[in-house]
Amino acid sequence: MDRQTELKMEAAKAALKYIQDDEIIGIGTGSTVNCFIELLKEHTHRIKAAVSSSVASTERLKAIGIEVIDLNDAHDIPVYVDGADESNHQLQLIKGGGGALSREKIIAAAAQKFVCIADESKYVETLGEFPLPIEVLPMARSYVARQIVKLGGDPCYRTGFVTDNGNVILDVHSLEITQPKILEAEINQITGVVTNGLFAQRPADHLILATENGIKEF
Ligand code: A5P
Repeated sequence: MDRQTELKMEAAKAALKYIQDDEIIGIGTGSTVNCFIELLKEHTHRIKAAVSSSVASTERLKAIGIEVIDLNDAHDIPVYVDGADESNHQLQLIKGGGGALSREKIIAAAAQKFVCIADESKYVETLGEFPLPIEVLPMARSYVARQIVKLGGDPCYRTGFVTDNGNVILDVHSLEITQPKILEAEINQITGVVTNGLFAQRPADHLILATENGIKEF
């Protein structure tokens, strides 16, 4: 296991304390969440069911014996655990490197508490060095890209990638995101956009950051 994976595992371990017996848990997507799912193997008897943000996470959860239910059947999700591509000190995030941003945003919105787990490389002063993913309906790809250029971004079509919802992703480079809430709303206004990877209107409630000096919690 390389050092970064060890740190992801440490962050995942620190999130276990948020799991209460007999509750429905929200599960995100990505390599850090995969560490968390790995650790859940020892806790399956305590978990009522999960709602999942991707086909990939659903498969992993089912493989360890956790029932995955539809979000529409989950009336109460006390905790959602997910990773991030970037977080600032206000726990506003960029997500969607794995392309699961829309389902992640929906579950984060529905959950009472959003616990973000990450290694220290994800903690940034200003969001935007990581290209901002936008999920777009396929026929709107070029139109949305032109509108993004007007906002100062440099959109790049994620070729060969289709989301779990059958859509495409534009990764937007060259954005220095000083007003995340405003930009999140502005991009969501563009016709054809399903959602964008800024989690500013609904940031994380807790950030567990694994660093070389131990776990830091914000
Ligand atoms: C998936 O779409 C993403 O939002 C992930 O949560 C994010 O990219 C973090 O992934 P890693 O844990 O693999 O860095």
